[in-house]
Amino acid sequence: MKIAVAGTGYVGLSVALLLSQHNEVHALDIVPEKVELLNNAKSPIVDAEITDFLQENASGERPLDFHATLDPEQAYTGAEYAVIATPTNYDPKKNYFDTSSVEAAIKAVRTYAPDAWIVIKSTIPVGYTQQLHERLHDDRILFSPEFLREGHALYDNLHPSRIVAGAPQDDPQAVEAARTFVGLLAHGAAPEETDRTNPDGTKGIPQLVVGLTEAEAIKLFANTYLALRVAYFNELDTYAESRGLDTKSIISGVCLDPRIRNDYNNPSFGYGGYCLPKDTKQLLANYDKVPQNLIEAIVAANRTRKDFIADEIMERVEGVENPVIGIYRLTMKSGSDNFRQSAIQGVMKRLKAKGLTVVVYEPTLDAPDFFGSKVTHDLAAFKAESSVIVANRWNADLADAGEKVFTRDLFRRD
Ligand SMILES: NC(=O)c1ccc[n+]([C@@H]2O[C@H](COP(=O)([O-])OP(=O)(O)OC[C@H]3O[C@@H](n4cnc5c(N)ncnc54)[C@H](O)[C@@H]3O)[C@@H](O)[C@H]2O)c1
Repeated sequence: MKIAVAGTGYVGLSVALLLSQHNEVHALDIVPEKVELLNNAKSPIVDAEITDFLQENASGERPLDFHATLDPEQAYTGAEYAVIATPTNYDPKKNYFDTSSVEAAIKAVRTYAPDAWIVIKSTIPVGYTQQLHERLHDDRILFSPEFLREGHALYDNLHPSRIVAGAPQDDPQAVEAARTFVGLLAHGAAPEETDRTNPDGTKGIPQLVVGLTEAEAIKLFANTYLALRVAYFNELDTYAESRGLDTKSIISGVCLDPRIRNDYNNPSFGYGGYCLPKDTKQLLANYDKVPQNLIEAIVAANRTRKDFIADEIMERVEGVENPVIGIYRLTMKSGSDNFRQSAIQGVMKRLKAKGLTVVVYEPTLDAPDFFGSKVTHDLAAFKAESSVIVANRWNADLADAGEKVFTRDLFRRD
């Protein structure tokens, strides 16, 4: 089967490679450098499985039917499915996701493949696909939420927690098309997943075909829950720090309860990354005229946490003449090269607003400065120059920096 994928970022590229094990897949992007890298079997993003798949395909060890292109005609003509994985950034002016890239891709698909099933994988507002059906008079648009983690994009598609697709439940053809799409993703997953036992005792990968709008809600509520959990343990840490208590002991005792679980509980400077900040804000916008307290509290808690962290850092340099705040990595997670919407940037903004000098150690950033702060790749000079070294995530690089390091990475994991 021919499948087109629009967008070769974390979502599009991992889905395209997964599907190309058993289908003819054409991955389209609008950035020539990305397509050129892919055509040279190189990954435009840091991701071990994506890198391996591309190299093993080039060497013939893992033959994939994978093609990267800039040409929409080549990508879409004859495709039975067109997967849309283009960005949906949060637009602070409209207080809503900017879905223009999704609509541009849909328009291009319809020029060359009028009957293809379009599956939106981008994260979109709740109710958006149904509105598209009405506005574009197009019933052949489905939605499938993507749950991957950056840095493990293809791994998470090979070992999915669940596969979900949404289709209007009163349209049997659309439901069938959604089932087929879920089946295509499941077929691409690692073979051992067929035999796995899930926490509820069921076997294999859980596969769900639900209503269109319910599928959209699953994505935003799942990410908002994750943000809630991060914000909760961060607020626990803020309390413990303010009262001189040992956060680690409290979290360890709290999380021995099997209903709470001992994971996803490591304090940080705030939740961040491409998805959680924008998805929580979008869900809050979707609550328009619906009573809520929790969702807005999650969004507010993340701001309060960054204020608290910035205050803690400022306390550390009180009395120091011309202090220099050293930022160790702009990234959210260790082992990542991605710093879209990382929490540290919010902390930096607060420090700079107070007139403090900030320098950044970020080896993956090839630029002399970052929003006016000097960027260095010289770790020794960075350590010497900094009055305090601020690290969202600790790294062995910092072992000799001793008391200068400020981090809340208590469990030394993401
Ligand atoms: N990154 C994640 O962890 C993650 C997880 C789940 C869902 N999502 C959602 O998936 C979507 C994509 O996220 P991403 O991280 O893969 O984004 P990305 O920015 O890494 O990649 C998007 C790609 O789409 C390309 N593009 C833009 N307009 C295009 C067009 N008209 N036609 C073809 N290509 C086009 C861009 O050049 C870019 O390469 C977003 O809605 C995001 O919220 C992301």
